[in-house]
Amino acid sequence: MPSQPTPLPVPDPARLTLDEKASLTSGAGDFVTAAVDAAAVPAVTMSDGPHGLRLPRESGDGGQLDLHSAAPATCFPPAVALGSSWDPALAHRVAGAIAAEASAHGVHVVLGPGINIKRSPLCGRNFEYFSEDPLLSAEMGGAMVRGLQEAGVGAALKHFAANNQETDRMRVSADIDERPLREIYLRAFERIVRRDRPWSVMSAYNGVNGTPLSENSRLLTDILRGEWGFDGIVMSDWGAVRDRVAALRAGLDLQMPGTGGRTDREVITAVTSGDLDEKTLDTAVERLALFARRVTRAAPAERRVTQAPPAERSIPDAEHHRLAGEAADRCIVLLKNDGDLLPLDPASGSIAVIGELARTPRYQGAGSSQVTPTRLDTPLDGLRELAAGASLDFAAGYALTDTTSPDQEEALADEALRLASTSDTVLLFLGLPAQDESEGFDRDHIDLPAAQLRLLERVLEVNPRVAVVLSNGGVVRTAPWHTSVPSLVEGWLLGQAGGSALARVLFGVVNPSGKLAETVPLRMEDAPSHLSFPGEEGRVRYAEGVFVGYRGYDARRCEVAFPFGHGLSYTTFAYSGLRADHDEDRGTIKVSLAVANTGDRAGREIVQIYDAGPADSAVARPPRELRGFTSVFLAPGESREVTVELTRGDLAYYSEREGGWRVEGGVHRLEAGSSSRDIRQCVELAVTGDPSRLPLNGRSTLAEWLRHPVGGPLLMERFARARATAGNGNGTGVMDDPVMRRFLAGMPLEVICEFPQSPVPPDGVRELTELVAVATAGTGTDTDTDTDRSMK
Ligand code: BGC
Repeated sequence: MPSQPTPLPVPDPARLTLDEKASLTSGAGDFVTAAVDAAAVPAVTMSDGPHGLRLPRESGDGGQLDLHSAAPATCFPPAVALGSSWDPALAHRVAGAIAAEASAHGVHVVLGPGINIKRSPLCGRNFEYFSEDPLLSAEMGGAMVRGLQEAGVGAALKHFAANNQETDRMRVSADIDERPLREIYLRAFERIVRRDRPWSVMSAYNGVNGTPLSENSRLLTDILRGEWGFDGIVMSDWGAVRDRVAALRAGLDLQMPGTGGRTDREVITAVTSGDLDEKTLDTAVERLALFARRVTRAAPAERRVTQAPPAERSIPDAEHHRLAGEAADRCIVLLKNDGDLLPLDPASGSIAVIGELARTPRYQGAGSSQVTPTRLDTPLDGLRELAAGASLDFAAGYALTDTTSPDQEEALADEALRLASTSDTVLLFLGLPAQDESEGFDRDHIDLPAAQLRLLERVLEVNPRVAVVLSNGGVVRTAPWHTSVPSLVEGWLLGQAGGSALARVLFGVVNPSGKLAETVPLRMEDAPSHLSFPGEEGRVRYAEGVFVGYRGYDARRCEVAFPFGHGLSYTTFAYSGLRADHDEDRGTIKVSLAVANTGDRAGREIVQIYDAGPADSAVARPPRELRGFTSVFLAPGESREVTVELTRGDLAYYSEREGGWRVEGGVHRLEAGSSSRDIRQCVELAVTGDPSRLPLNGRSTLAEWLRHPVGGPLLMERFARARATAGNGNGTGVMDDPVMRRFLAGMPLEVICEFPQSPVPPDGVRELTELVAVATAGTGTDTDTDTDRSMK
C-alpha cells in the first residue's frame, strides 16, 4: 500500500524572517538541513544510500563529518543485483531493514533509490541502477520507496532525470526527444511519484535539452508537480546548483550541501531587490517545513548521526545480514549450465576454486553509495563451509591490482593451472577489479581484464569442466569465451552476504532464480546507444530514441550473448493456457497462465509479460516491451495459475504531436516469456484506441480523414456525389485505384483539393472541417489520425 502522508500543520512563512526562510532552502551542513525552532521546523539528517547507509563518521573536531570512511551498516545487494531478483517484495523488505538502521542512527532520509535507466553498458554507475527497462526499475524502486517510508524514513528518488552517464555529468545536456524522454527516461519516475509518493526527489547534475536539471522548470515544476502531482521537496544532487535563485524559481526547494550561507545571501538579495518574488521562496519553505515534519515525526528525538556500537544501537545486525544473504540468493543469475555441471555435489570429486575474487570479493561499487559492511562473507569461506570436508582447494590465479609484473602474473597462473589440472571441477571466479568502475567516470570497454581472460583460456586447456562465476557492477562481455565454458553464473555485486549466497547456489542449497535486468551484448558496438554515447562538447544526443536496451537489440535483430529477462534454474518450467481478460470499463487487463515445474527440484520462475503492440502501429515500436511480471515458487511437479494485472494505460505510447499518452486501437499481441527471447505463449487482445486529441482540418491527410469515424464517411460521400454528377472522367475514381489511394494517402486534404479534378473544391475543406467539429463536439472521437497505413 502506498504510504499516505498525514496532513500536518505547516508553519506560516509570514512568521519567519527572510533570513530564516533563506536558510531553510539550503543545507546546514553536508547531510543536514537547517532548523528554525521558532516555527517548529526540525533539522533533517540524510545519508546515502541506496543499498545501505553510508554513515559519515564524526571526526570529533567541532562536529565535522569525515565522509571518506563510513560507520558500519548492513551492505545489502546494490541495485544491479537487486534488479535481477525481479522481486519488489524483497526490495520492500530490504528497504525496511535499511530504514530500521536509519532510524536507529537518527537518519531521517535515505538518499535513494536510484532509478536511472541503464542506457549504455559503459555507464560507470550502472551498479547503482536497476535496469535498462523502466517498468522493472519502477517496480523495484517503488518498492524501496514504500519500504523506507512505511517505516517513517524519507526516500529521495534520484537522479531526476536522464542521468545516464558519468562522463561530464555535471555539465552535459542529455538531448532527448519527447517520446523517449517520457517512455523510457521519465516513465519510472512518473510511476513511482504517482503511486508511491516519495517525500523527496533529487534533481540530477546534468541538463535535459539544454537546461540544467536544477533550473529546469519544465521537469521540476510542470511535469513533476503539475502533471504527476508530486507534493514532496526537490533537493539538488550534491553540488548540482549553479544559480540558486534560478533554481528556486524553477522549483528546486533545497540546495545540498549547504554553502555556509553564501547562496542564502544571494536569495536574500534577490528578494529585497525584487528580482525574486518572495512567494516563490515561501512556497519552497512551506514544502520544506512539511517535509521536515513528515520525516522527523517517526524518528527518535536524537537526530545526530551516531556511532554507538551495535548493541547500543539496537540494530539486529545478524538478522539484517541474513536478509542481505537471502536477497543475494535471489539476485544470482545462472546464465548457462550445459550438461548440468551445476550444482556441484561436494561428495563427488575434487573442486578447484580459482580467482582472487573468491577470496577478496567485490560486493559493491565505489562512490557515494559505498557502505562499510558490518561483516563480509567471502565465496571461498562459504564454499569451504558447505563442502563439509570434501576436497576443495584454492589458487588466486590473478591479482586485483594493476601493478602485477608479468612474472608475478605467470606465477599466479601456473599455480592455478596446476590446481585446475588435478581437480575434477573448476570454479573460476572472474570479474571487474574495483578500479574499473565507479561513480564519477564511465568505462571505456566492457571486457574482463586481459590477465583474467588469458587465465580462463589456459584453465580450459587443462580442464574443460569449468563454471565461471562473475562479479561485476556493469555488464561484462562474455563472448566469445562463454561458448567454451559449460556453466556461467552472473554474481553481480551482491552486498556483504553475497559470498555465502554464491556458495549456496553453486552447491544447490539454493536454486537460482535471478533473471537479467539488462542485456549482455556480444560486442559493445551492438549496444543501441553506442554511436551516441557519451556525446561531445557538452551534449549527448539520445539518437536511439525509444530503442534502448532490449528494445533496440530486438528491433535491429541483433544477436546477443544473453537477452534481457534470461536466467536459468536447476529445474525447468512449462507455460500453458495464456489468456487476457480485458475489463474495458475498469481499464484493466488480467493476463493469466499456468506455470508448471517440470523438473525435479523446487524452484522459482519469473514470468514476464510483453506487449508486442498492434501489427500496424502508427509509430515505430520496439518488437516487444515489458508490461508486467510476477514470480511463482513451485515444488517439483507442481503447477499453478499466475495472474499479472495490467492497466490499459500500460499499453500506451507517448504521442509527441498530441502531447500525451495514447493507447493505439487495434489488436495487441501479448506475450508470456521466460525471457525477452524465450516467448512461450501469445494471446491477441482487441483494444479500442484512445480518442484523438487532434481535430481534423485541411492539414490532416487524406488517410487521417478516411480513418475518422465522422470525417471518413463524410468525405467518401462527397467523393461519391462528385462521381455521380461528373462520372469517372474527372478523376474522382482514383479512390478505386490502390496505387493512387496510396499516393494520395499522405497528402493534406487541402493540397488534394487544389487539384483541378478534385471532387471537393478548395473552399469545401473548411465546410467539411466545420461539419466534423460540430458532429464530434464534446464526444471525443475514436480515430487514429497518426497514421496513413490504412490507405496502404
Ligand atoms: C551523488 C548522489 C549522492 C550525493 C550525496 C552525489 O555525488 O550523485 O547520488 O546521494 O552525492 O553523497
